[in-house]
Amino acid sequence: MKTVLITGCSSGYGLETARHFHAKGWNVVATMRTPREDMLPRSDRMQVVALDVTSPASVAAAIRAAGPIDVLVNNAGIGVVGAFEATPMSTTREIFETNTFGVMAMMHAVVPQFRERRSGVIVNVTSSTTLAAFPLAGVYTASKTAVDGLSGSVAHELAAFGVRIKLVEPGYGPGTRFAENGGARMQGLIPDAYRPFADPIFTAFANPGAVTTAADVAETVWQAANDASDRLHFAAGPDAVALVQAKAA
Ligand SMILES: NC(=O)c1ccc[n+]([C@@H]2O[C@H](COP(=O)([O-])OP(=O)(O)OC[C@H]3O[C@@H](n4cnc5c(N)ncnc54)[C@H](OP(=O)(O)O)[C@@H]3O)[C@@H](O)[C@H]2O)c1
Repeated sequence: MKTVLITGCSSGYGLETARHFHAKGWNVVATMRTPREDMLPRSDRMQVVALDVTSPASVAAAIRAAGPIDVLVNNAGIGVVGAFEATPMSTTREIFETNTFGVMAMMHAVVPQFRERRSGVIVNVTSSTTLAAFPLAGVYTASKTAVDGLSGSVAHELAAFGVRIKLVEPGYGPGTRFAENGGARMQGLIPDAYRPFADPIFTAFANPGAVTTAADVAETVWQAANDASDRLHFAAGPDAVALVQAKAA
């Protein structure tokens, strides 16, 4: 029976992905900063483990607690929307600590066991912001695009050891806690001079067309984790898939 370790399972895409892999019969190591077992099925195939991807000690302890795994899903992430000039470098560093360096730290932690076993899959959850340039999302996009570039390159060297890397690119998911979790961080990031530009964008955010659900992402992570080919990119959700199709047209 295979084992998946997923980061950021307290809500949203990560929580649904943990439920999905469990429903498919896998062992699941559902990690979260503040462990809560009540949201997930009670089962001897479900282990809830504390993990903050920005803490080296926490990463080491979680990997020890998990034991051998077959698939790592780097889902944990935080967001920021705002004018670039108004976004403090401290906020930029905070975003990169989780979205970029956190992913690297988790990859460092699992690659040795995957390489030695000559098998394993790393699924990095980025964003549809890596598929097209969205306004007021520069810092967030940079943090995710770095993971995109990292994954494409490292996929080559790990393929030599039978280890695969996949990118899942979800579209806009207003159903998760993503906006709420970033709310405080985004205060004051639209200066008055940017209001005429930004207001219509926020109006459009509030009235989205096609959006991505947690179920879309969970199923796409599942497909990516089980894909035996060298395919790297997996858009998740109808809005993300439409961006890929528009680029191809
Ligand atoms: N929703 C969207 O519109 C959207 C679109 C494209 C991509 N994404 C990406 O999808 C992923 C999941 O987002 P979501 O929409 O499901 O948002 P969410 O509901 O806010 O979930 C994010 C998860 O990441 C966790 N997390 C944050 N910082 C962490 C850290 N330092 N260590 C470990 N876990 C941490 C959160 O845990 P806590 O409860 O401890 O904060 C939470 O479990 C993220 O990578 C995000 O960038 C989201």
